[in-house]
Parts: sequence; structure tokens; C-alpha cells
Amino acid sequence: MRSSWSNKLSLIFGPRLPLNWLLLCLISVLALIAVLGSSSSNTFDSLTPISVPDIYINYRRLKEQAAVDYLELRSLSLGASRQRELGLCGRERENYVPCYNVSANLFAGFKDGEEFDRQCEVSRNRERCLVRPPKDYKIPLRWPAGRDVIWSGNVKITKDQFLSSGSMTKRLMLLEENQIAFHSEDGLIFDGVKDYSLQIAKMLGLSDDSQFLQAGVQTVLDIGCGFGSFGAHLVSLNVMAICIAAYEATGSQVQLTLERGLPAMIGNFITRQLPYPALSFEMVHCAQCGIVWDKKDWTLLLEVDRVLKPGGYFVLTSSASQPYGSSLSMKNSMLTPMEEMTPKICWTLKAQQYETFIWQKTVDSDCYTSRKQGAIPLCNEGHDVRSYYKPLVSCISGTTNKRWTPIRNRSSSPHQLNSAELEIHGKESVVGVQPDDFFEDLQIWRSALRNYWSLLTPLIFSDHPKRPGDEDPLPPFNMIRNVMDMSAHYGGLNAAFLEERKSVWVMNVVPVNALYTLPLILDLGFAGVLHDWCEPFPTYPRTYDLLHANGLLSHLSSERCSMMDLFLEMDRILRPEGWVVLCDKVGAIEMARMFATQIRWEARVIDLQNGSDQRLLVCQKPFNPKNLEDAMSHHSESEHVEAVD
Ligand SMILES: *[C@@H]1O[C@H](CO)[C@@H](O)[C@H](O)[C@H]1NC(C)=O
Ligand SMILES: *[C@@H]1O[C@H](CO)[C@@H](O)[C@H](O)[C@H]1NC(C)=O
Ligand SMILES: *[C@@H]1O[C@H](CO)[C@@H](O)[C@H](O)[C@H]1NC(C)=O
Repeated sequence: MRSSWSNKLSLIFGPRLPLNWLLLCLISVLALIAVLGSSSSNTFDSLTPISVPDIYINYRRLKEQAAVDYLELRSLSLGASRQRELGLCGRERENYVPCYNVSANLFAGFKDGEEFDRQCEVSRNRERCLVRPPKDYKIPLRWPAGRDVIWSGNVKITKDQFLSSGSMTKRLMLLEENQIAFHSEDGLIFDGVKDYSLQIAKMLGLSDDSQFLQAGVQTVLDIGCGFGSFGAHLVSLNVMAICIAAYEATGSQVQLTLERGLPAMIGNFITRQLPYPALSFEMVHCAQCGIVWDKKDWTLLLEVDRVLKPGGYFVLTSSASQPYGSSLSMKNSMLTPMEEMTPKICWTLKAQQYETFIWQKTVDSDCYTSRKQGAIPLCNEGHDVRSYYKPLVSCISGTTNKRWTPIRNRSSSPHQLNSAELEIHGKESVVGVQPDDFFEDLQIWRSALRNYWSLLTPLIFSDHPKRPGDEDPLPPFNMIRNVMDMSAHYGGLNAAFLEERKSVWVMNVVPVNALYTLPLILDLGFAGVLHDWCEPFPTYPRTYDLLHANGLLSHLSSERCSMMDLFLEMDRILRPEGWVVLCDKVGAIEMARMFATQIRWEARVIDLQNGSDQRLLVCQKPFNPKNLEDAMSHHSESEHVEAVD
């Protein structure tokens, strides 16, 4: 154990190691503490989330304690640790997304489209540096203003992409010289998305699109979402729309959608499945998403079928020039490939209007056995557990899955499972969740969130002394928007955020080796994804305002991957002035604090002050490019001195 840690350390500190032996000793001791601290519980699942609300009762006292911590840390970082701080990456990495280097992928031998897929082995052992924001980066406008107007300097988009924008979901315009606008309430920019949404609702037999929820459509996967305008509209109707699109070096749909504060991640399914379980979405939507569905033996359409719930809808809008749009409506035409294929997978054409087609997946799993010969075979049982970028298949998944329950009308508000539903989940051990556990977890998060929220006050980092008796104001409800829960468990943090009416959406990440709660999270109508934290997350730099991880560090310390890489990755995806909240055992938190210092986060440890071995680490990523530049030159100076020595 110890030797593997020192291997990691030598990776971190590189060739200058001997000069820093004293420091290394210190870190080794801390590492040992981390290892010992985590060895008592190796199973991630047994880690208890922070519980007991009363530990925070006097959070002001905690904050004062934190201020002391912070000063201590300051002096630490000004002293011995200065030269360990990491440098900034070059400007060419401003929009760096690991795993998607097409030229490197080609060089590594990937072809036939695979070079555009996620290939993480290829970008291993990359240079360790901090991805810097673009020169004219500005903190995004707060929700909901930020949904409609973004700073053009924050995203990478070319003039041509501006000029060619115009399809319904990609409509945008330049406002002033440094802002991009997508939509405005006064109808100044008419985006057509409302009419489109209404059209889809009518095609489904609803009186208007506010009825999507009642009709059971709670979560929509929007493939190639343009810049997220359709999703933005759905979100306003309380429908969760998750945008996925391929990696794009400029004019990225995912980058722009996230910049607007809407759920999105890089995801394509050229050769591999999406990291979602089968039977997850009530609607999959593709408006000119550029996929040729009959290519690759229909495996792409079968992937849509896999993630679609029974009774779910596939909405396809394609312009007349594309293969399936026009010919379906022509009386004389031969069967289009789509018309031929859909009965084989038990989809029925529910409606068609202009260029929009809606198919509905069967609710009846017996449909598959009654199909004619030549039909697509069913996958073997057990095939659809934990899909983590598995190869695409040419069979139908999910038919024997215990979650095969048709979408249904719901009267209740979104994001609620009634206990009957949980009972079914529990009894059938689909996710192994007992209703009591679930509700207890939710209760814990309700109070935990209030406490976290009170800790997110930038004041603590300011140089102004507080006047005694001053209560710090709480952050405004819309201080943050894009939140990632890096080990989401039952999605309790997300549920608590909704109850507290904060303006956030949460990307609930379920780590690959943790309890597999992702089906539950998606059934709650939350955004969720399976992820291996030893790999980079499929998103652009500066896309999240808050990263939260409960128990993740001690979980990962038993894995093969480097903590430093994890922290660098967190720094990459965190917006300037974004927050990190880690809750873990003392050892893991001490370790994390060292890493936080190295990557220049402002960090403070919060002692829960009740004798438990859990600590909080609250960090903020500074937005101070000037200081960073200064630090940068200072950094190279000290390196220079060292070299002379
Ligand atoms: C302290 O808090 C933890 C959870 O944060 C709890 O498990 C433990 O029982 C508490 N200890 C005491 C002595 O209250
Ligand atoms: C992509 O890979 C090429 C070839 O390996 C390399 O030269 C280049 O620096 C990489 N780009 C990034 C942004 O890492
Ligand atoms: C579901 O709701 C729709 C419209 O609200 C209604 O037309 C339909 O009959 C309902 N279905 C069931 C099974 O209740």
C-alpha cells in the first residue's frame, strides 16, 4: 500500500523529488494517514453520508475556525509548497477535452468514425497543468438571465458557425460585441421552439405541451441538441432534457448548452453504448441530429431502443432533403428503411406531421416473440447491466429487465417515487434500495444542504475582517446553476436542492464501482450517468459551478488511479469562482487539502466538531488570471533558481 502511494507521489513530484525530501516525508505521513484512515472501510457502499444535522448548529463558529484554517493554509502555501504549485497549460488547451484528440486517435489506429469516439487510453500520461480560461473570459450571468445570453468570449465558436446558424435549435445572434443571445421573452428573437414543442404535444394527443409530465414524459434525451433551445423550453415545463452530442472542437453544442446552464454532456454512440442503463428515458429526440440511422446495421437505432422506456417516444425531425423525411409521406414511394425497420423492433408510427415523425416503443414485451421471422433477435439475459461504454449490439435489450414498466400518466409532481414504486424496486432488487433507506438518506441531505449552502460564502476568503456579531448573508438562491454530484448515491443532494428551490440542476454521477443506483436516479427524473473517476469526464472545461463528492476520495484511494489527476480534472471542469465540497475521512481530506493547494484552490477544512472522523473540505477555484500569471512567472523564477543550484 505504502509503496503504491509513493509511486503516485513520485509521479506527482517528478525529477525534483530528492530536493524536496522533507516535504515528501510530510506528505508520506499524510498519505499513510489517508491509507490507514480509509482501510477500516473498503466498501464504498457502507460509507455513511454526513448525518446528524446538529453538528452545524453554530456554523458561524465553524466559519471562524475555518478562517484560522485558511490562514494556516495560506502560510503553508506561501512557504515550502510554493514551488509545488502547478503551472498553467498553454493557450491551445483552453478548451481541452481529454479522450477526444482526433489526430492522436487516428495515429493510434482508430478509423471508420472510431477516431471521433471517446478514446481515453490514447490521452493517458498527459502533461500535468491547469487549463486556463480564455483571455476575455467573464463569469456567466446568473440563472435565468444566463440561459438566454452568454459571453461570446467564454466559448469557442467561429464566425462561420455564427453566420450559418439558423436551424431551429441552433438559432443565435450576436448582441453587442461580446454577447450571444439565444432567445428573449419579448420575442425579439423568434426561435420557433415553442411552436415546435406544442406541435409535438399535439401529435401525442395532448392539448398542449404543459401536459408532457402528466403523460409520463419526465426525462428526454436530446441527441444533437443544437444549442439546447428545445431543452431550455422543456426545462421550463419541468421536464428534464439532457443534451448529448459528439465532441466538437469549435461551436460545440455541448459547450454552449452547458454555458447556458442546461444539462449536457459529450456523448455519441458511434461504436459504443451510452453510459446509461437500459429503459431510462421516456423520450429520445433528434432534430436534424445528423445520424444516419440505417448505417452500421441499425445498431444506432437499437441503442435508442435500448435506452427508451416501454411506451416511450422517439421523435425524429429531419429536413425534407434527408432520407426519411419526405419519402414517408409520399404515397407512391417504396417502403423507406425506417418503415421497414420499426415494426421489427416493435415501434409503431404514432404520428407524422411535416418533417416530424413520432414512433412509440411497445409497452408489451410479448410483442417481440410474436414478430415474424427475420426480426432483430433479443439480447441474452443479463446483457444490460451496467453499461459503461460497451460495444453497440445488434440485438434488442431490456426485455427481461425488471424495470420493464410502461410509462404512465402521473398526477403527482415530478421527481417523486412513491413508496409503492420503491417497494417494487427494492423487492425485485433492481437497485437494492429499501424505501426506509431512501427516505432516511433524503432527510440527511435536507439538513446537509442547508449547511453546505451557508458555507459557500466567499466572504471567508476576503481580507476584510468581519465585524463581531455580523451574520454573513446567505448566498442568493441562484448563485450557482450547474452542479455535479460526483458520487450521487440515491440522488439525495439533487432532491434537497429541488426542495430548497435553488436554481440548480445536478449531474448525478454514479461511480462504476459504487452501488448501482443510476436506474433509480433516472427513474426519479434526474440527470445521471455512470462514470469511472480514473478517467476524464466527458465535458468541456469550465462547465460546472459546484462539484460535490461524499466519500469518493476514500473510495478511490483503493483504486489504481492518481488522485492528482482527479483533482486536475475537477479543476478543468470547474468554472472560475466555482466551488468544491468534499466530505470524507480525516486522512482523505488532509490529502485533498494538499492537492487543493497545489492546484491553487482556496481551501478550508471544516471540522464537524463532534468527534466523528469525517471532515469537510470546502474549496473555491480563484478567478484571477492576473494573479495566476504572476504566480506563473514567479513559479518559473523559482524553478530557475533551483536549476542554478
Ligand atoms: C458525529 O457525526 C457523525 C456524522 O457526521 C455521526 O456519525 C457521529 O455519531 C457523531 N458523533 C457524535 C459523538 O455525536
Ligand atoms: C493531440 O495529439 C497530437 C498528436 O499526438 C498532439 O501533438 C497534440 O498536442 C494533441 N492535442 C492536445 C490538445 O493535446
Ligand atoms: C393519460 O392522459 C391522457 C391525456 O392527459 C389521456 O388522454 C389518457 O387517456 C390517459 N391515459 C390513461 C391510461 O389514463
